[in-house]
Amino acid sequence: MNTIWSDYVQNTGTLYLSRSLRFSDEYKKAYMNAFDIADRKRILEIGCGPGALTQALARWYPDAEILGTDRDAAFIRFAAQQAPGIRFMEADATALPFEDQSFDVVISNTVQEHIEPSLFFGEQSRVLKPGGVCLVLSARRGVNITADCVEEKSSLEKEIWARVEAVGQDVNNRYGVGKYAMSESKLPRTMEQYGFHQVSTRYLTVNLTPDNPENSKESAYAMINAHRQTSLDAVESLPLIAPGAVSEVVSSSL
Ligand SMILES: C[S@@+](CC[C@H](N)C(=O)[O-])C[C@H]1O[C@@H](n2cnc3c(N)ncnc32)[C@H](O)[C@@H]1O
Repeated sequence: MNTIWSDYVQNTGTLYLSRSLRFSDEYKKAYMNAFDIADRKRILEIGCGPGALTQALARWYPDAEILGTDRDAAFIRFAAQQAPGIRFMEADATALPFEDQSFDVVISNTVQEHIEPSLFFGEQSRVLKPGGVCLVLSARRGVNITADCVEEKSSLEKEIWARVEAVGQDVNNRYGVGKYAMSESKLPRTMEQYGFHQVSTRYLTVNLTPDNPENSKESAYAMINAHRQTSLDAVESLPLIAPGAVSEVVSSSL
């Protein structure tokens, strides 16, 4: 049973919380415009994790048959519990257990960057019907602007976060997290290389800024909580991954 991602890379509940914000109905119209798959019947999600996008797809395309898949058994168990009306199953994206030409749409969110492209795209191309659509979603990195009032200031905190980041980097290297990340211009060319035609790129903005007055108090709290929980997870996972990494810093500073 594979639970590498949920054990070492991202906590199930936290990932679900942050992706539920990213795929909230507030952005339904923008996503549906970008996807342009309203008339498609069979939709396969690859690497669905805890299933927030799968749930959104089920809400937005109620007439479609939707299947969420992931290699991580714990994510699939969680996803199925959260949404008993949706079909989820364990499946490795590099060897999909489906017949050739069996889906109208394949979709993934932040999965391509972790899987060797010839297998990732090759398998999706194989299971897509002729004329089918392959949607590859990703989040643009490097646009986090942290307000001064929440930036870590003390040298102890800086040292702790440096340790946390170093451990996180080790985990990423060990499990190939982000190993196949590519630029926005390389991704379409790569898809063409693997036989996809009419490849295009679309952008949409998801406003996860808690201090934006347009956001409700509830969603602002949810955004802060998702961010906070992501940081806490990084620290809490340390005893399992790198025992002593932070306590050494804290005790040597006392
Ligand atoms: C960054 S997470 C994204 C999860 C989900 N798409 C979301 O946005 O919440 C990457 C996901 O890819 C899955 N994954 C990585 N390699 C995989 C593979 N070979 N087959 C299937 N899933 C894979 C992981 O288990 C994890 O759930």
